[in-house]
Amino acid sequence: MNDKHTLKDSIFKIGRVISVKGRAVDIKVDKTKNTSHLLYKGELLKNISVGGYVKIIKGFTKIVGKVEGEYINEDKYFSKKEYGNEKEKISRVLNVSLLGFFGDKGFERGIKELPLIDNECFLLENDEFNEVHDFLKKGDEPITIGTLSLEKGQEIKVGINSLFASHIGIFGNTGSGKSYTLAKIYRELFKQYKDQKKFKQNAHFFLIDFNGEYVGDNVIIEKKYKNIFELSTREQNGKDKFPISEKNIKDHTFWTVFLTATEKTQAPFIKRTLKKDDIDNIKIENVIKNIITNQDRKIDKGVIFNYLEEIKQFLQDEINIGELRSKLKYHATNNTYKIENYYANEQPDDVIKEIKKCLKDENYDFAIKNDLSNLQKIHLKIIYYYYNEIERGFSNQEHLAPLIKRLDKRINDLGKVVEVKDDGLTNFLTIVSLKEVNSDMTKILPLLMCKQLYDDKKKKNKKETYLNFIIDEAHTILSYSSERESETWKDYRLETFEEIIKEGRKFGVFLTVASQRPSDISSTIISQLHNYFLHRLINNNDILAVEKTISYLDKVSFDYLPILPTGTCILAGLLAQVPVVIDIGTIEPKEQAPDNETMKLIENWKNDKVDD
Ligand SMILES: Nc1ncnc2c1ncn2[C@@H]1O[C@H](COP(=O)(O)OP(=O)(O)OP(=O)(O)O)[C@@H](O)[C@H]1O
Ligand SMILES: [Mg+2]
Repeated sequence: MNDKHTLKDSIFKIGRVISVKGRAVDIKVDKTKNTSHLLYKGELLKNISVGGYVKIIKGFTKIVGKVEGEYINEDKYFSKKEYGNEKEKISRVLNVSLLGFFGDKGFERGIKELPLIDNECFLLENDEFNEVHDFLKKGDEPITIGTLSLEKGQEIKVGINSLFASHIGIFGNTGSGKSYTLAKIYRELFKQYKDQKKFKQNAHFFLIDFNGEYVGDNVIIEKKYKNIFELSTREQNGKDKFPISEKNIKDHTFWTVFLTATEKTQAPFIKRTLKKDDIDNIKIENVIKNIITNQDRKIDKGVIFNYLEEIKQFLQDEINIGELRSKLKYHATNNTYKIENYYANEQPDDVIKEIKKCLKDENYDFAIKNDLSNLQKIHLKIIYYYYNEIERGFSNQEHLAPLIKRLDKRINDLGKVVEVKDDGLTNFLTIVSLKEVNSDMTKILPLLMCKQLYDDKKKKNKKETYLNFIIDEAHTILSYSSERESETWKDYRLETFEEIIKEGRKFGVFLTVASQRPSDISSTIISQLHNYFLHRLINNNDILAVEKTISYLDKVSFDYLPILPTGTCILAGLLAQVPVVIDIGTIEPKEQAPDNETMKLIENWKNDKVDD
């Protein structure tokens, strides 16, 4: 027994501590341990090298460190007698950074004790190595996401609880494998849980797909488990429509966000308007009557025509605005309108009658179409009250006009991509593709959809339900450096997602973001992520952005970042006791992987046979 022990010790022992400076420890390697592999019981063991682990024994404590570098030292006391070979006066020194220790519960991250000079150092035994890489907490269930990159064949299992009850960040340059990794981790989860009844009831995953990579029938998981919405602002009625609840469509925050309304003037106007009577009770002609009879307000003379132009799309009959334009005149001297022989300040009723005559006939009643959609009704309502307010001098036209200008196009676009419907999301995975949505709406829609789902979830506050927002290409909506939008709107957009990331956990709401530009994304968001999959990152700003937030990432891992091959990433964060480099496993069958193959030029450019 003792012999065995000594043998093991002599094989696994690699050297002694020669310097301790905080977390950084230097270890002098025994001269006999300078080979790349060692033999133990007929098995080939990898010897200590950069990236590997050492165990430092201090009394009963086993401290674990990671080798970050090595250099050589020449022995100063050198006598010919002692050394037969010149080579032997050189000794190898390892720079080790301390990571954790083996306690009662196995490996734990963190440092409780520092080693002493001359403490003996050992290679990790197999079971100890496994323990360091065992990311499974008690009571959790594993999914396998790949293998250790430096120890071929060693599978990496992570706990479902630790991974999916956390905010996840996946970063890396284009083509480094982010989307693939994202698809892989969710596929592994769904594979295990897709047919569990409670899972279907309680969990909802909401994936925003800017490039249409995930809409294929079988991507991530079979079609029957998904709600797929391929939205398009290009076609009027050709594509899917996302359900927005009736309650939400009547909610002023929805419209404030949707119309990117300014906080001080436009947002309060929207709030007021939506509280007012529905359009069944409004009288279109009242606004016209008020404009022509109102003498003390200084309002734009063309306002009657603008009003008519804007509401004509909601009227049952065609009206002839051209004729009215040629006949209705404004008289600046006595500040009134005149049509035919009638001055509005004397005979308003006759003026109205004449106006109607021009538009249609003298009994025209401005009847509104019966079949207006909910969106159109709100559209009409906003326009009606806008003119109503500016005519009464209640609101400033200059402040509200930009909002009204946006309204027409935005509502038209919205009508193409949403429908008013309560609860159309029946499956646990919802995928929304915004590939064919114009850039204006690409920014607004994710915010609207996420906000609707998040607010609902928050309100219901049911402990057992779970909501996960998955956003690939997250810089599109989470960047803080966009010049095309106003500050207030940017704040609003970021605030919403920042709230989700800061407060969501309490309500069972989590966020997964994948991006090529971590440096572009709001640092509040990046710093609140719990777990990171770091793919190849080349740009220094991006590396810095990651470095700033993941302070415990060791130097070796950092140095790997720019040279990681596609499909290999560093997994770091709360769930991993030590950051590890992993090869993400393949997705089989292939059609379940995201549809984003890098183009193979030669295949497309070369003829199979040379034509002549
Ligand atoms: N673990 C992997 N195993 C096999 N193939 C992979 C793996 N990871 C990525 N790939 C392949 O590499 C290519 C690029 O991957 P992917 O589209 O995921 O990159 P990305 O980082 O999302 O790029 P982008 O930022 O442009 O969206 C794809 O063709 C994908 O199939
Ligand atoms: Mg991608």
